[in-house]
Amino acid sequence: MLKNDQLEQWDRENFFHPSTHLAEFARGNIPQRVVTGGQGCHIEDRDGNRLLDAFAGLYCVNVGYGRSDIADAIADQARELAYYHSYVGHGTEASITLAKMVLDRAPSHMSKVYFGLSGSDANETNIKLVWYYNNILGRPEKKKIISRWRGYHGSGLMTGSLTGLELFHKKFDLPLAQVIHTEAPYYYRRPDLAMDEAAFTAHCAAELEALIEREGADTIAAFIGEPVLGTGGIVPPPAGYWAAIQAVLEKHDILLIADEVVTGFGRLGTMFGSEHYGLKPDLITIAKGLTSAYAPLSGSIVSDKMWKVLEQGTDENGPIGHGWTYSAHPIGAAAGVANLRLIDDLNLVQNAGETGAYFNAAMRDALAGHAHVGEVRGEGMLCAVEFVRDKGNRTFFDASEKVGPSVAAALLEHNIIARAMPQGDILGFAPPFCLTRAEADEVVAKTAAAVKTVLG
Ligand SMILES: Cc1ncc(COP(=O)(O)O)c(C=O)c1O
Repeated sequence: MLKNDQLEQWDRENFFHPSTHLAEFARGNIPQRVVTGGQGCHIEDRDGNRLLDAFAGLYCVNVGYGRSDIADAIADQARELAYYHSYVGHGTEASITLAKMVLDRAPSHMSKVYFGLSGSDANETNIKLVWYYNNILGRPEKKKIISRWRGYHGSGLMTGSLTGLELFHKKFDLPLAQVIHTEAPYYYRRPDLAMDEAAFTAHCAAELEALIEREGADTIAAFIGEPVLGTGGIVPPPAGYWAAIQAVLEKHDILLIADEVVTGFGRLGTMFGSEHYGLKPDLITIAKGLTSAYAPLSGSIVSDKMWKVLEQGTDENGPIGHGWTYSAHPIGAAAGVANLRLIDDLNLVQNAGETGAYFNAAMRDALAGHAHVGEVRGEGMLCAVEFVRDKGNRTFFDASEKVGPSVAAALLEHNIIARAMPQGDILGFAPPFCLTRAEADEVVAKTAAAVKTVLG
C-alpha cells in the first residue's frame, strides 16, 4: 500500500478521535497507528507491525478479521440494494431474515427485534420503550432507571448517564436526573473483606432494595445491567447475584434490561449471557457480536410482555414515534446474517467457551501467584488481571502511577493488544472466538513477561 507521508499530519490536524486525550494527541504525544489489514486474530499496521488483537477491536470482532463470507455478503447487498428504509412495513430480505435469526437464538419469551446502529442508540431505544410502556399502563411516575456503578451502557446523554464511570459524567453535566446508580457486583472490591461471596450477593441485593425503598418503587421503571460487567473492569458477578437481583426487581414490578452488547452471540460460551446466568429480561441490548463489527448494527430485543403493551400503545396513539433513517440498514443486516451463519458453521460459541476456559486457567496459573496481581478473573472469552500494591491488605496503586496502562504498553512491545480498562489497574482481554490454544499460550506468556517488566 502506498504510504502517504502526510497521513500523520492530517490525522493530528483534522481527526477528532473518540476516548482520546485530545490535547496530547494534537501535540504528538500519543502515538498514531494506521491499521491497514487483519486476518484471524491479527491486525497489521502501515508500519509493518503484525499484532495479536487480544481485545478483538473493542470486544466486537468476534469471528476474527478477514472473513470473506461476510465481506462478500456486504458487497453483494451493496450492489443489489445498498439502502432502503424500514419504516411503515418496509424491509429487505436481509433485515427480515436477520430478525428471524436473532429471535431463534434469543430466550423463548422474547418477541421482536428493533434494529439500530450502535450499542448506545439501542440503549436509548430501550429507555424510550420503557417510558412508553409505563405511560401506556397509566403509570407516568414510574420512570427512573437504576444502573450499577461501573456499568457501561454507552456514551450518549441517557446512555452516558446509565454508564457508571466517572470519566463519562465529569464535565458533561451527567448523569441525568432520571438515572440512579447502585452497588457494582464486584466481589474483589467488596466493602468489607470479611464478606464471603454469598454475603456480598446478599449485600448487593439489600443495597438495591434500600435504594428502591428510598426512591419509592412507584418511581422506578427499570434496572439495566450487563450479565458480566465489561468496561467497568471485566467482572463476572458473585454466585447467586442475578437470582437475588431479579427477585428484588420482580417484587417491585421493575423491568430488567440485559445489556448484552458484549455478551450477546457467544462471548460467554453460550449464545446469550441471559442463558448463562438465568436472566429473564424484558429487553435485551445487542450490538457488537451481531455483525462482529463488519458493519454497524445493533438491536433491542423486546419481550412478549412488553410487546403486547407497545401494540396497545399504537392502537391508542398511532404509529410508534421512533425510528432512524438507518434502522435495519440492509448492508448491516446482510453482514449480520452472514456473521451468525459463520458462528454456527464454525462452532464458534463452543470454541469461545472451551478456549476461553483454557485461556483463563492458563492466565491464572501464570499470574495469580505474582505479588502485585490481586485477581485473575473471567468467564468465556473474557479475562481480566487486576493489579494491586499490596495483596495482603488489598491496597490499590494510585491512578497517577498508571500501572495498568504501563503493563498494556509493555505488552504492546510484544505485539499483543490488551486493554487497560478505564477505571482501576485492570488489564482486559476479550479475544476473537477463533483464538487457538497456541495463541492463548502466546498471549499468556507475553503478559507474564510484560508484568515482570513493569512490576518485577
Ligand atoms: C455493554 C455495552 N453496552 C453498550 C455499549 C455501547 O456501544 P457503542 O459503543 O456501540 O455505542 C458498549 C460499548 O462498549 C458496551 O460494552
